[in-house]
Amino acid sequence: MTRPTTRVAVLISGEGSNLQALIDAARDARLRADIVAVVSNRSAARGLERARTAGIAALHLAAIRGQDRAEYDAALAKLLAPYDPELVVLAGFMRILSPTFIEQFAGRMLNIHPSLLPQFPGLDTHRRVLDAREPWHGATVHFVTAELDAGPAIIQYRLRVRAGDTTESLAQRVHVGEHIILPRAVSWFAAGRLRLASGSVMLDGRALDGPVSVDEEGT
Ligand code: GRF
Repeated sequence: MTRPTTRVAVLISGEGSNLQALIDAARDARLRADIVAVVSNRSAARGLERARTAGIAALHLAAIRGQDRAEYDAALAKLLAPYDPELVVLAGFMRILSPTFIEQFAGRMLNIHPSLLPQFPGLDTHRRVLDAREPWHGATVHFVTAELDAGPAIIQYRLRVRAGDTTESLAQRVHVGEHIILPRAVSWFAAGRLRLASGSVMLDGRALDGPVSVDEEGT
């Protein structure tokens, strides 16, 4: 019996190039998933347009002045409910989520972050990597837990920082890798190969010692 496709919701705030990588992977069957909804907190997010073009429900949920985080997240959960997502992917969603929302999707919410976590959680990672003269940089896909950018890591893309790299060149190179590792992690989840068990990442029935590593070509 073939497995039914996994229902995935993607949350974004901007460009949506990672969303596009998921759309493309689902289209050419590298990923057996149905992207059922895309939600942005910003109406101008280009990712919403990408979703519309792909025939996916593109939803904008603005934060209302005076509304607290829990209220926004309750509205978000309500907006997603009719789409009944089995997996939520944070792909450049620039809001911190409340513990209740995270709990609702425990073990079924992934985030992509532009650094080699646990190094450089938070914002402005390319600048911080350059300032710290780090030899390596990259991106991480991890399960989302209540602590920001600190959930169990699944897969990382690694690249060597080159002399002459700038925040722009690093952003560009990191994006290339993100578009490889995010569809891969989502496809593992959709195939039933990836899960979170008692805080450990299980891939193909085995607990990972550390994230799967993918190096930039030529590294
Ligand atoms: C990515 O670098 C991702 O790691 C971070 O936000 C960026 C989103 O890029 N969380 P895009 O909107 O997918 O192009």
